[in-house]
Amino acid sequence: MKPEDIDFDNLSFSHTPTRSMYISKRKLNDDEWEKGDLFPFGEISISPAAGVLNYGQGLFEGMKAYRGRNGKPRLFRPHMNASRMAEGCVRLAIPPITEDVFLDGVMKTVLDNHDYIPTPEQGALYVRPLTIGNGPIVGVAPSPEFTFLVYVQPVAPYFKGSLKPINLIVTNNYHRAALKGTGGVKAIGNYVAGMKPAGEAKSANYSEVIYLDAAEEKYVEEVGAANFFALFGDTLVTPRLTGSILPGVTRDSTMYLAFDQFGIKTEERRITIEEALTADEVFCTGTAAIITPIGKINYKEEDYIFSDGQVGKTTRKLYDALTSIQFGDAPDPYNWIVEL
Ligand code: PLP
Ligand code: COI
Repeated sequence: MKPEDIDFDNLSFSHTPTRSMYISKRKLNDDEWEKGDLFPFGEISISPAAGVLNYGQGLFEGMKAYRGRNGKPRLFRPHMNASRMAEGCVRLAIPPITEDVFLDGVMKTVLDNHDYIPTPEQGALYVRPLTIGNGPIVGVAPSPEFTFLVYVQPVAPYFKGSLKPINLIVTNNYHRAALKGTGGVKAIGNYVAGMKPAGEAKSANYSEVIYLDAAEEKYVEEVGAANFFALFGDTLVTPRLTGSILPGVTRDSTMYLAFDQFGIKTEERRITIEEALTADEVFCTGTAAIITPIGKINYKEEDYIFSDGQVGKTTRKLYDALTSIQFGDAPDPYNWIVEL
């Protein structure tokens, strides 16, 4: 789709084809990932016996390119996404994507599609790197060939209406991930398992589910595709990374900003769902979700209300601090931004 045909003032979190995508390929036994090239965005051909189609050997990343106030594209902590994808590759028996190829793909794709980046008021360009086993394999083993691909699309925040509190429901029927499984990496297979729970939550008028830990079904893990936070007085708590929780870039940044900019005490520890329900403010974080306040949580058929529409003071402060660095409205003392 041409940029002039996009209604930038009414974006949603959905797919729009853009100008180009980046592709790099390697064989399992090659020594390294080669730098790739840009191609017109479009369909790719793949063997029906591809490892990704048959056994889910694939990973994705989610990042955003923001249009800075000076008009230049800005990436937020892209090295963290590069290293998370490399760690995911190791877990899924994929030769780890190197930082230089990852960043080359992200930067070239964003620059070539720079006119698709919305203004800060409209949204951001969602960048989707993928690493997949595209070679044919019938035994359960690593694919003989891999593809690293990057495509982009303009989006609005994941949960409709930035900073509008959402309602969530705790599920006792499903788990997202188990200890020592793949929950700590962005394996594509983690997400299909969340579709039925999320669909059921939506039919009951909740935006998403809150998952509890698979071992004891007692501790909060995360929210579908975002990390969970609870504020108790002047202490901000998020579940510690056990291996089944995704180490979010926004999670890490929010903890850092809370302490560094506002002197808020931060703790990474286990939180029981009962404790979380007594918090003063609750919110979730993610690249797509940004910082989204949680207004209501349903647990065992009872609603716990945190907000009747207003945004908690600390949630708003953290949202403003994070987004003003991302858009260039505030200085970036942490060198988080890579301007292109
Ligand atoms: N948790 C899950 C399961 C996710 O898919 C995401 C999204 O990437 C997050 C948390 C938030 O991570 P990040 O802040 O790096 O986007
Ligand atoms: C992201 O925040 O980038 C995500 O990956 C969420 C996505 C699954 C929609």
